[in-house]
Amino acid sequence: MAETKATNITWHPSKVTAEDRAAATHNRPCIVWLTGLSGCGKSTIAVALEHALIAGGHAAYVLDGDNLRHGLNSDLGFSPQDRAENIRRAGEIARLLADAGLIVIASFISPYAADRQRVRQLVGPDEFLEVFVDAPVEVCERRDPKGLYKKARAAAAAGKPLGFTGLDAPYEAPVNPEIHLKTDEQTAEQAVDVIFNFLRRRGRLVEQR
Ligand code: ADX
Repeated sequence: MAETKATNITWHPSKVTAEDRAAATHNRPCIVWLTGLSGCGKSTIAVALEHALIAGGHAAYVLDGDNLRHGLNSDLGFSPQDRAENIRRAGEIARLLADAGLIVIASFISPYAADRQRVRQLVGPDEFLEVFVDAPVEVCERRDPKGLYKKARAAAAAGKPLGFTGLDAPYEAPVNPEIHLKTDEQTAEQAVDVIFNFLRRRGRLVEQR
């Protein structure tokens, strides 16, 4: 895991306080961490939540696993080690974006509980909201929006397993998430409402005067 290799580095503090930023962005920044199987609805909910927050005047931004893997994390695959590094980097970026004043909506399968726990510890308990986007694997496989379950099944049948989450790679469901959504029973709009109201109750949204 990442240790700091550089020596002779100092931390440069900012002159802007958390309250200054809250007044500027209408947020008390935090990280809404969506975890769940491929096809469970994470991205749909993330994009809709971002849209709802921005429409309400709150600064928000989606960090998406697929998107990060096109750039910053393009050197990473899907081994447990690579997924751990993927989530570590995502957690660090999420922390920076939250520090900048955003409500960060992180959408990553993040199948390993230990990787998610590390992010929680990195950002602190009040700023990390774990959202379990739950749908049975059979439902996700039926939806198969990117055709990846089909590909994974074909690869396994050909003796070349892909290590696809939910099929031949594990998914460790959150034990005590702040929010548990069931996307085979709730619509995306309902899921967004649940998260939005949770953020409001927790005082993460500063209403505009
Ligand atoms: S994570 O496990 O490291 O958190 P991440 O969310 O970044 O994964 O990326 C998951 C996306 O990669 C999936 O939505 C899917 O499109 C794609 N993908 C490709 N191969 C796999 C695989 N073996 N297991 C899971 N997802 C995969």
